[in-house]
Amino acid sequence: MRVTLSHVAALVATPLLTSAAPPLEVRQSQQKVTIDLTKKYQTIDGFGISGAFQRANLIVNLQQPKQREVLDLLFNTTTGAGFSIVRNGIGSTPNSNKDYMNTILPKCPSTPAEVTIDYSGYVWDGKDSGQLFLSQRAQEYGVKTFYANAWSAPGCMKTNNQDTNGGQLCGVSGATCRSGDWKQAYANYLVAYINFYASAGVRVTHLGFLNEPDMSTSYASMQSSGTQAADFIKVLRPTLDRANLTSVGINCCEATGWSIASQHAQQIASAGAESLVYAISSHEYTSRISGTMRTNARVWQTEYSDLNGGWSTAWYSNGGSGDGFTWANTVFNGVVNSNLSAYIFWEAVQDRATNNNNNEKLILVDGQTYTVSKRLWAFAQFRVVRPGATRVGASGGSNLKSAAFANTDGSVAVVIINSATGAQNIAVALPGYPSVQAWYTDNTHDMSAATVTVGSDGTAAASVPGRGMISFLFKKSANGTAV
Ligand SMILES: *[C@@H]1O[C@H](CO)[C@@H](O)[C@H](O)[C@H]1NC(C)=O
Ligand SMILES: *[C@@H]1O[C@H](CO)[C@@H](O)[C@H](O)[C@H]1NC(C)=O
Ligand SMILES: *[C@@H]1O[C@H](CO)[C@@H](O)[C@H](O)[C@H]1NC(C)=O
Ligand SMILES: *[C@@H]1O[C@H](CO)[C@@H](O)[C@H](O)[C@H]1NC(C)=O
Repeated sequence: MRVTLSHVAALVATPLLTSAAPPLEVRQSQQKVTIDLTKKYQTIDGFGISGAFQRANLIVNLQQPKQREVLDLLFNTTTGAGFSIVRNGIGSTPNSNKDYMNTILPKCPSTPAEVTIDYSGYVWDGKDSGQLFLSQRAQEYGVKTFYANAWSAPGCMKTNNQDTNGGQLCGVSGATCRSGDWKQAYANYLVAYINFYASAGVRVTHLGFLNEPDMSTSYASMQSSGTQAADFIKVLRPTLDRANLTSVGINCCEATGWSIASQHAQQIASAGAESLVYAISSHEYTSRISGTMRTNARVWQTEYSDLNGGWSTAWYSNGGSGDGFTWANTVFNGVVNSNLSAYIFWEAVQDRATNNNNNEKLILVDGQTYTVSKRLWAFAQFRVVRPGATRVGASGGSNLKSAAFANTDGSVAVVIINSATGAQNIAVALPGYPSVQAWYTDNTHDMSAATVTVGSDGTAAASVPGRGMISFLFKKSANGTAV
């Protein structure tokens, strides 16, 4: 969502954090967390951010060493958040006015048949609103998941002839245009965009063609139901396949909230297109994530942020919507209670002026200076969970929320939130993994290394501060290699 402030109040549900009961003195007693590797849940695709709407340019324009520092904060798996997904906006605007993202098709031919995959009228500027640079740098840190997501088709392909203010894709059910059916043209155009990225060395792995299609906005937007989306998916999938992009997954439909995303999932399934979709994608603005979605596809939360809180770098202030601790719980809830395979925050970076310096960014970039919020460190606590990991069983302890993940390299990640106001000693029972490291975050620490003792029975113990978070990484060999 790229809101104007007038939208904010209407769209944002205020998160309610029930505050923990007054602390018992638990320092002495050990809270035992048990891991069950045989209990297998969903596969994790990763955690991510976006630099859409020219925000990536804030990083492009940073001088060294600040640019490297900000990139490390976002992508470094040993010193930063270790994000593993970059969500890029596919521009639909003929220019780069305001913060708009320019399209590769600034001038549309009059008939859809002319828009082939190798149409000569595409204009690739080698920048993509700063997102190509961000993607190339992310790739240097090992990021492999690049989600290209269009907010709208170019205006000429739509019922309202503009990429802004809603409108629908010509040719989906209920949307006829005198200029014809533009479904195939839009699919070709999206493949052309992926090919430009490939030529710049970045492999787009996931593709979305809608953003918040249940809403019409003054910036790029295109409306669609799940049924209409299915009409297009049936054209897009074979187009990708013919272009040898069989491994590119289609995500749909970026609803403003969970309840509408659930409707999309049902409509796509009814239309017989569920098997063509990689992930049902939802935002959390108009309804928060709760329960599990009825779909056989994976489920991604692809955009959420605190739009109305004033800029805050706090870990825990009062349970506010911008607190790092609140975000730790938000991501945890999505992954553990709602079966999400990916959680993507909204903007990685933003300046001070935009939207009255709110919390929709993780890092405030103000000219040549930057400030990091604790929301970034909440995500960093999940960096021990690498793409491809399987969530496994974890339970035990009072005032603790624990989750465990079997990484593909054989290591096991255990992520724990301490909801108590006082510190707790945690013992994680997982025999057979003699090398154990742990990191914790609270008001005064950012993924600080914790002291871990491993008992003769293989139980790893460490202390987590009150209202803090700790992440363990268990490896099988004593020398610290994963297997
Ligand atoms: C991550 O940070 C460490 C410590 O500063 C550094 O040695 C490493 O090169 C960084 N990783 C990448 C991919 O830049
Ligand atoms: C797809 O791959 C096949 C086999 O490698 C090749 O023959 C064909 O030309 C490719 N098609 C496209 C559109 O790249
Ligand atoms: C969780 O998601 C996976 C796909 O990632 C799906 O196969 C499974 O059925 C889902 N489980 C629940 C409880 O929704
Ligand atoms: C670490 O230990 C594993 C198994 O215990 C072994 O296969 C590997 O070669 C060792 N690596 C190093 C660098 O010593």
